[in-house]
Amino acid sequence: MRLEEGWVPVALSSSIEAGTSAGAVVAGSEIVVWRDTGGTAHVWEDRCPHRGMRLSFGFVRGDHIACLYHGWQYDAAGQCRYIPAHPNLDVPQTIKVPLYRVAERYGIVWATASAQALLPDVGAQTDIAPVRSVTIDCPAAAVRAELGLEGPISVITLDGDRLLAAVQTVAPARSCLHLVLLDAAPGPVARQKHHARWAQALRFRLETASEVA
Ligand code: FES
Repeated sequence: MRLEEGWVPVALSSSIEAGTSAGAVVAGSEIVVWRDTGGTAHVWEDRCPHRGMRLSFGFVRGDHIACLYHGWQYDAAGQCRYIPAHPNLDVPQTIKVPLYRVAERYGIVWATASAQALLPDVGAQTDIAPVRSVTIDCPAAAVRAELGLEGPISVITLDGDRLLAAVQTVAPARSCLHLVLLDAAPGPVARQKHHARWAQALRFRLETASEVA
């Protein structure tokens, strides 16, 4: 699914700590997922309007992100506010990074370019613990088919545990599976590790099947 088509899972919430950023790709579109120091997540096009440097290489400063290359700073609305080489310049409103709608649900960061799309809903869930995100070199449809998912997210049962599986299309032959454990309290660490190993084995199995095909 492309960002224009609906809500796409782009990262585990736990993987984007306050004050950090990470690059991701959705159906060929490069994005930066970053969290300001107040804890709010942001998803933008991963391209500085100045010379095109990836903003995911930049630095988060409070509720701004600064480009690594020449230090231009962008506020939470994507608006450039400061250009170090011209500190007294009133920065034109046109210097702005395209941004996406963002939501966090089920321990996952979601993004979309659609104004109408409804956030996926699998009911209220409690005690959510992250497992892992795993990139798999096979189409998202193959991952969904393997797990029996009908949409971008579903509850699956695995070795007696309930998990949420959300699939992100990265490219035609590459996808990313985000996994979180439900009903995780208390002491979920051993189960998190167990299911992380399962995800690793799933990747191997799907990539091997994809090579054979
Ligand atoms: S490329 Fe980002 S500030 Fe120059």
